[in-house]
Amino acid sequence: MAPIDLATLERLREAALEVAAHAYAPYSKFYVGAALLFEDGTVVTGCNVENVSYGLTSCAERNALFRAISARGAGPRIRAIAVANRNGAASPPCGACRQVLSEFVTADAVVCFPGESGPETRSFAEIFPCSFTFEPQDGGR
Ligand code: THU
Repeated sequence: MAPIDLATLERLREAALEVAAHAYAPYSKFYVGAALLFEDGTVVTGCNVENVSYGLTSCAERNALFRAISARGAGPRIRAIAVANRNGAASPPCGACRQVLSEFVTADAVVCFPGESGPETRSFAEIFPCSFTFEPQDGGR
C-alpha cells in the first residue's frame, strides 16, 4: 500500500481534534480525541470518558478502537492513528493504549500526536518497541 500522505494525516488530526470536543473530562479537564484510519479507508473516532472513580476513565484511543470493533468487527487493520487535545499540550498515546492498539495495527502504521513543539509523526513500531506478545496454547482468536 502507498505510504500515507501528509494531507490525509492532517485530515485525520482534524477529525481527532473535532471529536475531542465531545470528551467527558470534568475531572482532568483534558479533552482528548483520537482518529483511526483503517486499511479499508474508513476513519473511526473516539474521545476520553472519565469517571468520578478516576481509575475507570477510558482514553480516547481505546474508545475509538472499541467503537470500531463493536461496529464491524476486527477485520481491517489500522494504518494511521491521530491524537489531538483541546488543551494545546503534548500528548503521545499512553502506554496502555499503545499495548491495546498494537494488536490491531499494520506493520508500517504511523502515529501523529501533539509533541512539545507541534504535531509529531512517528511509526507505531518506534513508539512501541518490544511489545508483549504471547501464543495461546489453542491458537487464540
Ligand atoms: N488520556 C487519553 O484520552 N489518552 C491518552 O493517551 C492519555 C490520557 C485521557 C485520560 C484522562 O481522561 C485524561 O486524558 C487525563 O489523563
